[in-house]
Amino acid sequence: MSNILVLHGPNLNLLGEREPSQYGHITLQDLDQQLNSLAARLDHHLDCQQSNTEGQLCDWIHQAKSKPYHLIIINAAALTHTSIVLRDALLAVAIPFIEVHLSNLHQRESFRHHSYLTDIALGVVMGFGVYSYHAALHAAHHYLSSPTGGR
Ligand code: DQA
Repeated sequence: MSNILVLHGPNLNLLGEREPSQYGHITLQDLDQQLNSLAARLDHHLDCQQSNTEGQLCDWIHQAKSKPYHLIIINAAALTHTSIVLRDALLAVAIPFIEVHLSNLHQRESFRHHSYLTDIALGVVMGFGVYSYHAALHAAHHYLSSPTGGR
């Protein structure tokens, strides 16, 4: 059993009502519930957190070291495209992480094409709506089950 932390960034608390054509109709609460049952089936402990502020997300990443969490799944939302703070925090704790997005960033505005996280992530899942998170959790399970992360 491993401990996995899911971090949701700014505006994801509005999931379900926010631009449903882009992000779907499922609420964050329902998504977290789905992820919790999947994690239980895969025999992992999961905690989910959402914040609209960069500092709070940064603090949770720092604290992840002491639980300890073995892996982080993060949708940094708009901070993906701006935040050297989150990049440095993830580098500082050196906990492997998977970057997730509901939408396919490369089908959207050019300012969404750059991520400060992608080159230091284990991998990225995007474009599948809430299933991006499910796929990331399966990938996390695969990674945590094998010393080489299945590579
Ligand atoms: C997002 C994509 C970001 O560009 C955007 O700012 C979000 C959500 C996604 O999940 O598709 O808030 O991370």
